[in-house]
Amino acid sequence: MPSLDSPSGQPQLTGIRGSFLDFIDDPFYKSETDCVRYIADGLMVLAAGKVRALGTYADLQPKYGEIPITEYPGRLIMPGFIDTHIHYPQTSMIAAYGEQLLEWLNQYTFPTEQKFKDKTYASEVAEIFLDELLRNGTTTALVFACVFPQSVDAFFEAAERRNLCMIAGKVMMDRNAPDAICDTAESSYQETKALIQKWHKRGRLHYAVTPRFAITSTDEQLRLAGKLLQEFPDVYLHTHLSENVDEVAWVKQLFPDCTGYLDTYDQAGLVKERSVFAHGVHLTDEEFQRLSAAKSAISFCPTSNLFLGSGLFKIEQAKSHEYPVKVGLGTDVGAGTSFSILQTANEAYKVAQLRRQKLSPFKALFLATLGGARALCLEDTIGNFDPGKAADFIVLDPRATPLMAFRNDPETPSDLTALADRIFSLVMMGDDRVVQATYILGELAHDRTKSIA
Ligand code: GUN
Ligand code: ZN
Repeated sequence: MPSLDSPSGQPQLTGIRGSFLDFIDDPFYKSETDCVRYIADGLMVLAAGKVRALGTYADLQPKYGEIPITEYPGRLIMPGFIDTHIHYPQTSMIAAYGEQLLEWLNQYTFPTEQKFKDKTYASEVAEIFLDELLRNGTTTALVFACVFPQSVDAFFEAAERRNLCMIAGKVMMDRNAPDAICDTAESSYQETKALIQKWHKRGRLHYAVTPRFAITSTDEQLRLAGKLLQEFPDVYLHTHLSENVDEVAWVKQLFPDCTGYLDTYDQAGLVKERSVFAHGVHLTDEEFQRLSAAKSAISFCPTSNLFLGSGLFKIEQAKSHEYPVKVGLGTDVGAGTSFSILQTANEAYKVAQLRRQKLSPFKALFLATLGGARALCLEDTIGNFDPGKAADFIVLDPRATPLMAFRNDPETPSDLTALADRIFSLVMMGDDRVVQATYILGELAHDRTKSIA
């Protein structure tokens, strides 16, 4: 952790000046004006890696007149993005041509994941992966490692060195995959238990029990995953659910006694508040209702769902008033085609369009920040700029490319209508190029002006 104490023992105060945008509530359920917090000329005061105060520069500057202030004129400062589903071992196989889910797994994914038996290789990839997250403004992610426990150690060691808030876990898979990347029900239980004891709640790290999906786990393995959730009630459950039609059909064959795909997890005690299910493209009405009742979350992964031809997620059904389900955005790299949550929100908008729905820019950026934090039950510590939250934030340049500079005039938006237009351009046109800086616990962790030649 950074040491920010001054000689007097009081934490040193620093300030960030710019335009601030965050969310204080969910715009799917309340009016956008009640949910959006926008300060055109703001000051955020930081102490010991946390937000101490946020207000207009005019109000706060007199009170904190002496503190060093970093100024970001013309920039939009937001909470760091939250990626609710991504696979770090698949970093090198992003953009693998031609297949849908089950063939894609056999042809590309399983061979790639075998390489992570080698801890040195796993550590190299973990560093590249985390660099890429930070370049894209993602400060927290829920991450699949792979079957080898050392792939989890490599990831958490790298995340810990960077003071990142990350959730990850060892993949559990004991059938329907090559022997080289299969464990057994018993070994997956023992290895997961040891990893939970080593990593869960160590600093900013959290553990997720991670059965890959129902197809690659026996009943016994899913049951033991449920046992782990009982033994360690505050760990997460992270898996895939109802992504692809052939997958759903195979699950029905493999689990004839279950009422559907979600029920394979439910019968094992895996459908809970800290459970995050990636995709949910082909859920039934009853399954949406069950997820709502259990307070579980869905990770909406539009670039992946389009890339693998999986289908169009029903965002309006997940965010219904009657049966609300928590939703975050997931890149799902390597089936997802970008590390950028802005690009992910762009594709989410288009998925909604194809279903004659509208995903407003505020709603999209809510999902990318506070919505993601809520999906991961981390809203007490990250997701917006409430005092006391971790100072994980990003500095966005709405004029980062020649075309964006042409589209967006230099003036700071003064109201929510002008802001909505500005941020919609970020969602449609933005990617890592608009992320000028990423801060972790108040410390600069990525500076685009220095990292490009
Ligand atoms: N379902 C089971 N494994 C995977 C995976 O690695 N990626 C995606 N997109 N879906 C899966
Ligand atoms: Zn995935």
